[in-house]
Amino acid sequence: MYDEAIQNLKDALRFSPDNIPLKSILAETLLKANRLDEAEQAYMSLITLTNDAKAKFGLAKTFFQKEAYAKANVILEELIDNGDNNHEIYILHAKALIHEHDITKAIEIYRKALALNPQCQDAELDAQLRQVNVVEEVGDVADNAYFIQHPSIDFAHVGGMEEVKKEIDLKIIKPLLHPELYKAYGKKTGGGILLYGPPGCGKTYIAKATAGQVKARFISVGLNDILDMWIGNSEKNLHHIFEIARQNTPCVLFFDEIDALGASRSDMRQSSGRHLINQFLQELDGVENENDGILIMGATNTPWHLDQAFRRPGRFDRIVFVPPPDNIAREAILKIKLAGKPTSGIDYHQIAKKMEQYSGADIEALIDKTIEDKLTESFNSGVPQPIAQQDLLSTLKRHKPSTAEWFSTAKNFALFANESGLYDDILTYMKIKK
Ligand SMILES: Nc1ncnc2c1ncn2[C@@H]1O[C@H](COP(=O)(O)OP(=O)(O)O)[C@@H](O)[C@H]1O
Ligand SMILES: [Mg+2]
Repeated sequence: MYDEAIQNLKDALRFSPDNIPLKSILAETLLKANRLDEAEQAYMSLITLTNDAKAKFGLAKTFFQKEAYAKANVILEELIDNGDNNHEIYILHAKALIHEHDITKAIEIYRKALALNPQCQDAELDAQLRQVNVVEEVGDVADNAYFIQHPSIDFAHVGGMEEVKKEIDLKIIKPLLHPELYKAYGKKTGGGILLYGPPGCGKTYIAKATAGQVKARFISVGLNDILDMWIGNSEKNLHHIFEIARQNTPCVLFFDEIDALGASRSDMRQSSGRHLINQFLQELDGVENENDGILIMGATNTPWHLDQAFRRPGRFDRIVFVPPPDNIAREAILKIKLAGKPTSGIDYHQIAKKMEQYSGADIEALIDKTIEDKLTESFNSGVPQPIAQQDLLSTLKRHKPSTAEWFSTAKNFALFANESGLYDDILTYMKIKK
């Protein structure tokens, strides 16, 4: 079927022998037609003309087809050394390396391909490589102790956030402490809390403090703890973590930046990401009482990217906005963070008032910066000085709050994708809606 096209291309090239786009189409077509010697020639002459990476990749593919794996590898290695980040190059290189029996290197290259594009999991490579690599087969989740924390902070260490504390108390702490009462009233317990809001405003911090508050263990899980290069292993890892939680109740099982795990972006639907989401939903639902004693919490800066299935009853059915700290909270955070440090005559109230829109992390950064400056000053003068009001005010002038950017994105979702008032809290906070 390609023969006619090839003839036409050749005819055309007789009139303009140096036409690079034409030549390049000819080479590709010859490769597709499996006319490999001619394809090799065509790519060679292209490379002489242009020294182009795409043509080199074409030549490598041709060598691969010809089972000249060593030659293919030389070219692919050169492309990679030159910083070409096309994951297809890595995938082909890994395949050619298997033929050369260099499995270790093949695994390394496949790993890099997946780092460039997690969607490029390749069933054939997966099968060939994991056979010889059975040791990793169990999944990469480290031993249980690595995950289990015993937080030393509780709600008293969290400045402000009264609304959020109240929600957490009602929704998950009380049911944990008084299950019999809930049963008596026929009220179902279970389900988790999803915290969302601008970065640095205490989502992770309050999740940890929740565990401290009820003296439960804290198990924090991020995407990197779960994702694994081998097909099916990410799901196993996730299951394993739920099992750790089930064996260590009472505990807070916390999924940080959960949007990365439960992304609803359409590209995740088609590929491996979908399996992981399904596994997650299955674990959340649990079978009969399986998740008793586990407080499930999640946090995200981008709730709109989370698959809607996560918000069904019994899953993350409470979604709580964690706003930037208000005046009182900022003052509390300032005091918490400056406690035990040398200070003199600080008017916390006045500083807090000037920190509109600052996140908890901003406040922390501001204090760090002030202390650094103070240190430099002390080295210069040789006399250590306590942190004073003026020092904080002068850092404040140079430090911009970080939450505005988040609100400008969030506002759009709250206005235009606000099904059943999900993001009303954002609008209220921004004083767009009462
Ligand atoms: N309400 C708060 N009280 C005390 N510290 C806070 C508070 N909010 C934020 N912080 C501080 O800011 C840091 C960043 O908060 P974090 O919980 O990591 O933010 P997020 O998870 O929302 O991005 C925390 O480590 C904590 O030290
Ligand atoms: Mg966080």
